[in-house]
Amino acid sequence: MKVYITRQIPDEGITLLKEKGYEVVVSPHDRVLSKEELIAALSGNAYDAVLCLLTDTIDADVFEAAGSQCRIFANYAVGFDNIDLKAAAEKNIIITNTPGVLTNTVAEHTFALMLAISHRIAEADTFIRRGKYVGWAPMLLLGNDVSGKTLGIVGLGRIGSRVAHHAAKGFDAKIIYHDVKKNADFEKEFNAVYKENLDDLLAEADYVSIHVPLLDSTRHLIDEKRLRLMKPSAYLINTSRGAVIDEKALVDALTNKIIKGAAIDVFENEPFLASGLSELENVIVTPHIASGTEETRQAMSRLAAENIIAVFEGKEAPNKVAVRYGS
Ligand code: GLV
Ligand code: GLV
Repeated sequence: MKVYITRQIPDEGITLLKEKGYEVVVSPHDRVLSKEELIAALSGNAYDAVLCLLTDTIDADVFEAAGSQCRIFANYAVGFDNIDLKAAAEKNIIITNTPGVLTNTVAEHTFALMLAISHRIAEADTFIRRGKYVGWAPMLLLGNDVSGKTLGIVGLGRIGSRVAHHAAKGFDAKIIYHDVKKNADFEKEFNAVYKENLDDLLAEADYVSIHVPLLDSTRHLIDEKRLRLMKPSAYLINTSRGAVIDEKALVDALTNKIIKGAAIDVFENEPFLASGLSELENVIVTPHIASGTEETRQAMSRLAAENIIAVFEGKEAPNKVAVRYGS
């Protein structure tokens, strides 16, 4: 069996595949392959499986190039908006992702962003490095407390639930949440309140944290109108996908103090940022690293490999993604 990996990843999954006797070919370029390069790499090489990244656009042309012997594309990410699921289904190609193993890490990063924007950590660090610190002062760089505030979780999956856990248990926050479905167990455990209407959550939350997948129905879910519903004292945190927020509208909202601040790890048009975003002081930006710890990136490598191995051992792939096109 031959597996193609579109870019170097941490070694545990690769080692596992090799131990199981798979031939593994890793792209020699440490960068994103263009679509043409990806197609050229797959064409005529009869790979049985492809391990791809969220930065690869995987569509009908790529499946065609991979050939009919190719059974699975294992995405090295929990998100899979980079993959055309309808085209995969038409070609009988299994698509898997890496959920679960990154939940804690992404929730931690979300919390790091939440605390950092509230306590003005990045601004304060820059302040000292620029030699501006002349002594303690009662009004210096005042921030806000997370403790006891209202956190609005948009999208109550694994990661959203874990962020709620930290906020409720560690910071005595009040939890409100919006999702396509209500979760009675979660409400009971965290004393959380369901907001069927997202607009109600936005109007009430001191922190809004986004944890929905990018779908047609969630693209620009947070737009200019919805940003205006938020409190002027509120902060917006995003570790899901950039396009869930209208990034240009966010720059306008932050510039005009419609909301107090934003801390975001994902952008609409990565690696580019909306004009003006990174010049704002009430923003913290990190370069799509919310799952980026050594431990988790190794676990993702292993899980992607395990999905491939399961398919060739005739088992159900443990993380086969649900076909949700059209939603
Ligand atoms: C990262 O963004 C992921 O989807 O795993
Ligand atoms: C601050 O450093 C304090 O002692 O209150």
